Order: sequence, then C-alpha cells, then structure tokens
Amino acid sequence: MVKLLLSGCLFFLVHASGYPQKSKLNRADKQFLSIIDKDFRTAASQYAILAKHLPPGKFPKTYFPPSGSYEFSNASWWCSGFYPGTLLLLFEQNRDSNLYKEALRMLSLLEPQKNNKETHDLGFMMYCSFGNAERLSPDPRYRDILLSSARSLSTRFNEKVGCIRSWNSQPGDFLVIIDNMMNLELLFRATKMSGDSSFYTIAVTHANTTLKNHFRPDNSSYHVVNYNSETGAVQKKLTAQGANDSSAWARGQAWGLYGYTVTYRETKNNLYLQQAKNIAAYILAQLPGDKIPFWDFDAPGIPHALRDASAAAITASALIELSGYVDNKTSKKYLSVAKAILEKLSGPDYLAEQGSLGGFILKHGVGHFPKNSEVDVPLTYADYYFIEALKRYKDLLK
Ligand code: GLY
Repeated sequence: MVKLLLSGCLFFLVHASGYPQKSKLNRADKQFLSIIDKDFRTAASQYAILAKHLPPGKFPKTYFPPSGSYEFSNASWWCSGFYPGTLLLLFEQNRDSNLYKEALRMLSLLEPQKNNKETHDLGFMMYCSFGNAERLSPDPRYRDILLSSARSLSTRFNEKVGCIRSWNSQPGDFLVIIDNMMNLELLFRATKMSGDSSFYTIAVTHANTTLKNHFRPDNSSYHVVNYNSETGAVQKKLTAQGANDSSAWARGQAWGLYGYTVTYRETKNNLYLQQAKNIAAYILAQLPGDKIPFWDFDAPGIPHALRDASAAAITASALIELSGYVDNKTSKKYLSVAKAILEKLSGPDYLAEQGSLGGFILKHGVGHFPKNSEVDVPLTYADYYFIEALKRYKDLLK
C-alpha cells in the first residue's frame, strides 16, 4: 500500500509541477524564491534528523537546546498532525521518498484518532496531516478518515450555544477558544466530500457565534468564551494562554485571522472576509518593526518580551491567502508583511542552523507562557505554518 501510494504521488508530482520560469520574475522575486528554496532544503535535512530521534510510536513535541533533550507526545495530543503534515509539504517540494515514507508511518499511528471525541483539535490533527496526504495522492481511504474525523468533531457541537465545545469542563460550562476556528476547514472539506451539508452548517454556525462573542471593538479577540451549556448565554470572557483576560494573545489573533480567511474561502460570504480584514488590520497595527509578534501583543515588558515564531508563521500564511481576496493595494500590503515575516524567520535569529535544534526548523516559539510550558522553544506548529507559508508564497511566484 505504502509503495503504491508512493509511486502514485511521485508520478503526480513529477508531471504536475510547473516550476516558475525564473526569467519572468523580477530580481527581488528571484532573490526571495532562492531564499524559499534554501529554507525548504534546510527544513528537509532538519526533519531527517528529527525522524532519527523519534522513539517508536511517538510524535515530536519540542526540544531543549541547552540540555539537548526532546519532549515527545502520543497521537492524541493536539499537535500530532503537524509533523506528518510538514513532512508531506516538504516532500511536495523535494520529492524525497524518505520524507514520504516517514509521513506514511506517522499517518498510520495517527489514524485511530479519527474516532477521538474528547478533543476539538481534530482539524489540526487530521486535516494538516490526512488533508495534505489526500491532496497529494487522492485516495478513498484518506477521504474516509477525514470524514470519520469530521463526524467525531461534530459530536462536540451544541445547538443551544451554536459552537463546537473546545475544552471539556465542569457541568454547566461550555468553553470555546478562538483556536477552534482552525478546525472548521475539516468540516467544510467533509461537506464537499460527502454532500452532507450538516458539517458546513456546524462550521458556519460556529463562525457566526464566535464572530458575535469573541471579538472586542478593536477587533482583537478574547482567548476563551465560557457559555452556559444549557442556555447558550455568555458567562465569562477570559484567557488561558494570554497575558491576561483583556490582552491580545498573539497566536489567538493569528488563529482568528486564518480561520475567518478559510471561512470566507469556503462560503464566499463577505461578512467573513470583512472579519478577516478587520483582524489583519488589528495585527498589522501591533506588529513591531521586524514583524515578528510578541507572544502577546499586551505582554508585560514589551519591547523586551519574548517573540512567538509560531504566531508569526501562522500570520504570514493567513495573510498570503487573504491577499488573494482583496483589492490590489491591500493585497500588496498583506504580501509585503508576509514576506517581511518570512524573511526574518529565514534568518539566523529564527531558522535553525543545519544540524542544530534537534532537527526542528524554527527557534523561539511560545507555547503556554502563563504555565511556563514550552516557552522559547521550537514547536511543530511553528514549523508547519512556516513551511505552508513558504509554499503559498512560492506558488504565487509561479
Ligand atoms: N491550540 C493551542 C495553542 O494554540 O496553543
């Protein structure tokens, strides 16, 4: 099976790739394209190192450079789809069958999660992995896995609240985090694959409820909204991973930007495009000179607060897609910020030197600052969205 998928995918890529004619690019584009391709090479050699260090059955979580120690996770952790997803994105670029084999190995470890009803993170876990696998090598088996995952995710939808439950909580509470906007892409895909509109309806209802309750007048968002699970009333707006309840946690703003951009792509409803533009305007106004977000836009100690490479990468990837839906002037603005982010992440401050960082790609991610967990370390989702953003930018140059 692995062999069949591998040869099918290689055939597809060899014959479908239309590499940009470099002569038609201007000098700045050519220079950036060579940075992008260099990043892909660095990333692929880094992930070959990471692959060698993974214990059987484990997924990478992070690495601590001072001690040279790794943290691994099981398949049920919210980030388990990013490593196979990144391997697939890199394979798409360099066609290295070792990366593809490693991705397939991880996909088989991940597959049972399609039945996991205890997490709202199935979009991250199953779409970033199997979604890319299916895109590169269409296969009914992948479609079944994506559909089962969407069914599991849908069990967490509450009609009264109009949202998918994020974290499990005490009876009466119903916690929804802005991150949950990222799980809607799986539901949109499920409706397209199956013709069953219930997934689409859940996604749109969740996006509408979130739009109504998660955003402040300045278009920043709360991290968590706690609804009454029986009445749907908003009980509290708070944070878990931000600096405080009224702060703008940078990754949360990036999840919102990405999520509403996807929701516009899938619905063509201008309400969501406007929301994505509003969020972009907020983020762009907060970014420091080098365009890499502080871990929270209201973090104590700015300008000396830590930066978050993951928020930077997600923001860049979302801005590149959003640039395709707006007028020329706005599009140029989004692309120039995305490019500035990617250039900075491609430099020595953020990009791992070959052979360093345990095989991760980007330095300086901030996972959960208030808990002092995964702070200023490499993160699989920073890597994933960085590679996705590079691919999106490269595709524009084609
Ligand atoms: N969804 C969890 C995070 O962004 O850290």
